[in-house]
Amino acid sequence: MLSKCKAATRLISKFEDSIRPQDIRKRLISSKEVFDREAKYAAHNYHPLPVALSKGEGKYHLTIFGAQRVFVWDVEGKRYFDYLSGYSANNFGHCHPKIVQALQKQSAILHHTSRAFYSDVFGEYAEKITKLFQYDKVLPMNTGVEADDTACKIARKWGYRKKMIPKNEAKIIFATDNFWGRSLAAVSASTDPSSFEGYGPFMPGFSCVPYNDLRALETALQDPLVCAYMVEPIQGEAGIKIPDVGYLKGVRELCDKYNVIWIADEIQTGLGRTGKRLAVDYEGVKPDILVLGKALGGGVYPVSACLANDDIMLVIEPGTHGSTFGGNPLGSKVAIAALEVLEEENITENAYRLGIIFREELKKELNKNVVIDVRGKGLLNAVVINRNLADAWDVCLKMKERGLIAKHTHEDIIRFAPPLVINEEQLQESIDIIVKTINSIQVP
Ligand SMILES: Cc1ncc(COP(=O)(O)O)c(C=O)c1O
Repeated sequence: MLSKCKAATRLISKFEDSIRPQDIRKRLISSKEVFDREAKYAAHNYHPLPVALSKGEGKYHLTIFGAQRVFVWDVEGKRYFDYLSGYSANNFGHCHPKIVQALQKQSAILHHTSRAFYSDVFGEYAEKITKLFQYDKVLPMNTGVEADDTACKIARKWGYRKKMIPKNEAKIIFATDNFWGRSLAAVSASTDPSSFEGYGPFMPGFSCVPYNDLRALETALQDPLVCAYMVEPIQGEAGIKIPDVGYLKGVRELCDKYNVIWIADEIQTGLGRTGKRLAVDYEGVKPDILVLGKALGGGVYPVSACLANDDIMLVIEPGTHGSTFGGNPLGSKVAIAALEVLEEENITENAYRLGIIFREELKKELNKNVVIDVRGKGLLNAVVINRNLADAWDVCLKMKERGLIAKHTHEDIIRFAPPLVINEEQLQESIDIIVKTINSIQVP
């Protein structure tokens, strides 16, 4: 009886394998219908590339071709290299089996409790992440913007309690062109009019110094009301801006000198993306508050975190900060799995090695009249397009036609951030698409 059941299961699974999921989807909805429905019923706060995705990975492709977690498929069944990785949340690729399994398993046991009660998972996650990044404590949140906002709150409270800044006068310094999300606090710190215009009044006590400018930073930090400097080690949304060698070390030294908390926003750069576990590792420095998000939830669940030592973190007392979902058993299990994948699968080393090949090849092959700059670290890279000759959006549309999806940031910059599990053959294939597309741009 048992063997009959097994045989039937095998037959069904063989049958399922022979039906390509994209064929089923094809009959259900077209790309155009997807675009139209979304435009009609969803707020127009994004301008997506016209591609309607329905699959990242699935049984069919796992069984026949092995893991191909760098691809996505649209509703018509066309396959694309994913060079955005969900804004770097999918560092481990689409549907990583270990992460998906953690999600599925924990969701059937205990998904959410709130931290009004203890769960048997949150402590396990807290121990794992703090030991891995060598901080005393973690404060769990969900999205990146919440974790950055949390870091600002911790820093302000530390400023009042430890630096003895007079009540409600604490200041936080940010870098120009920063991006840390879309909340009112985040846009108050922004220097990009498309982020802040129309949303005032803004948060008091926030100001900016030019990125990568230690002199300007030193001048700002001399103000005794400053409690923190928050900065991305590499600015992602600003267009993959990499500071001079020594900048991060300089930030560390200045923050020490003026008794200011250094908050490093590694939400986009962290967890292997830049070819090191953290981008600050390039200069061997440790921020006072480390902020992580995006890939921490394996791309399947929003998980973000602030990490700090006790002298800073313990200014937060029960009832003074929190989040309904932050640190719940489901998110905690997913984050444990994501961190294990990061440690076990040489993903960071892969990003470092392939990043070098990617930049070298593009620098060698791309038409220098069309591309002004190729830059990046690990697999967080960008090309800057000569705006007199082409528009980054149009280049993205053309790459899409050739089977690679990426997104511009600003009119002239295209970010290239594939899942870190990409292999060299796939990388070469995608380089070929990028080069053919860009070099096909007519130069007068
Ligand atoms: C450096 C950085 N910080 C914060 C955020 C905000 O993260 P979230 O969109 O999850 O709120 C982002 C998002 O792109 C980011 O790149």
